[in-house]
Amino acid sequence: MGRELPGDPASLISPAGEKPGAGSLPDDAEVCSCNGVTKGAICGAIAEGACDIAQIKGCTNAGTTCGGCLPTVKQLLASSGVEMSKALCEHFEQSRAELFQIVQATGIRTFSALIERHGTGRGCDICKPVAASILASTDSDHILHRSQAGLQDTNDHFLANIQKNGTYSVVPRMPGGECTAEQLIVIGEVARDFGLYVKMTGGQRVDLFGARVEQLPLIWKRLVDAGMESGQAYGKSLRTVKSCVGSTWCRYGVQDSVGMAVDLENRYRGLRSPHKLKFGVSGCARECAEARGKDVGIIATEGGWNLYVCGNGGQSPKHAQLLAGGLDDETLVKYIDRFLMFYVRTADRLQRTAPWLDALDGGLDHLRAVICEDSLGIGEELEASMAKHVAGYKDEWAGVLEDPEKLARFVSFVNAPDEEDPTVQFDDSGARKVPVLMGMPAVRTGEAE
Ligand code: SF4
Ligand code: FES
Repeated sequence: MGRELPGDPASLISPAGEKPGAGSLPDDAEVCSCNGVTKGAICGAIAEGACDIAQIKGCTNAGTTCGGCLPTVKQLLASSGVEMSKALCEHFEQSRAELFQIVQATGIRTFSALIERHGTGRGCDICKPVAASILASTDSDHILHRSQAGLQDTNDHFLANIQKNGTYSVVPRMPGGECTAEQLIVIGEVARDFGLYVKMTGGQRVDLFGARVEQLPLIWKRLVDAGMESGQAYGKSLRTVKSCVGSTWCRYGVQDSVGMAVDLENRYRGLRSPHKLKFGVSGCARECAEARGKDVGIIATEGGWNLYVCGNGGQSPKHAQLLAGGLDDETLVKYIDRFLMFYVRTADRLQRTAPWLDALDGGLDHLRAVICEDSLGIGEELEASMAKHVAGYKDEWAGVLEDPEKLARFVSFVNAPDEEDPTVQFDDSGARKVPVLMGMPAVRTGEAE
C-alpha cells in the first residue's frame, strides 16, 4: 500500500513471527474498496456502539456490495474487544457448523422442522439457502424436491445462472475440460437454434447465455440426450477441475493429469458446500493448469502427486499451500475426501477455503494433522460421508426432465405458462449479442466495430 511496514519485516515472513492483522493498518487505509470505507470510519462506528456486522454495514456501507472486505471488518470488530455473535441470522443462534451437526445428528430433513425445533420465526434469505445447502450435503435428495425447492436462491431455483436481463446461462459439465466432438457439435447446434451467446469460461467449458426460463428444459433435453449433464455453474458446489494435457500429450508431463482431473470431477460433482469449489491438476511442475490458484490443486511429480489446498482467486487471491507430497492415487483421493468433508462441515456460510483456513485454529498444521494423521479420529467418518455422496449422485437436470412437477416451475408466469416475458430483450446489432434492460440502451463497452 506504499506505506511504511507496520513492524519488523522479519515478522512478516517468519513462521514464528506475529502476523500483522487489520488492526495494524493506518486509519486512512481503505478497507472496503467497493464503497470507499476506511479503517478509521469502521473503527469510528464501532466506538460509537456498532457491535455487529449488520450495524457496521448500516452505519458505514462497508461490506454491502461484494462482501469481500467482511473478513477484515470482522477482524476489526474482534480486535476492538467486541464479543462477536456466531448466530447465523436472527432466526438461528447457532453457527452454520453447529446447524450442520444438528442436521446430521437428528436426521431432520425439512427446514420447517429445523426452525421449529432449533430456531425461531419463519426464516430469511440467509438461513434458508444455508439449510438447503446442509440438507443437500447430507443426503442425495434433488434440490428441488418438495419443500427444499422453496429454500433455494434464484440460481439454484432454476438450475441456471440468472443474468442482468432476467435470462439465464447454461453450462454443461465437461469433466477435466474434456468433451467429444459430437457433444461440441450439439452445444453449437443448441446455441444456434436458441440464439444463445457463446463464451468459453475460465474453467475449460462452454457457457451459453440468453436462455429464457421456459427454454431451459428444452435446451437441457438436447444436452442430456447427447450425454451431457449439469455443470452446476449455478451452485455452491464443485464447479470445475481444470487440467493440462499431461503425460498423454505433453513432452514434459510426468503423470496423466487429464485422467486424474476427469476422475476427480466425476467423484466430487454435485457436492454442495459452503461456497463454490474449484480444482486444478497439472501434469508437471510447470503448472499449466494453475492448480495453485484453486481450492484443491494437484501437481504431478515423478513419484506421484503433490496436494495443495485452500487457494482462491477472486478479490483476495491466495496461493494454495502444500498439504502433502508424493501421494499415490488412492491416498490422494482419500485426503481430498477428508479435506472436502471437513470443510463442508465446519466452514461458515459463503466462506471459501482460503478464509476458512485463515480462521482455522492451528492453521495449516492443524489441517494437516486432521487430514493426514487423523488427529481427531474422524477420518473414516469423513470418507464414509463422501462415499455416500458419490454413490447417491444424480444429475440435477436429468432429475428435472423426468419429473412433470419440477418441469412446471420453468415458466415466466405461473398463470400463463405459455407466455414469454415481454420485458426480456436483446440487441443483436453489434459484434456480439447483448442483453437490453427495459428502458435503457444496450451497453456495448469496449466493443470493436
Ligand atoms: S503442466 Fe507440465 S505436463 Fe502439463 S501441459 Fe504444462 S508442461 Fe505439459
Ligand atoms: S463490499 Fe467491501 S470491498 Fe466490496
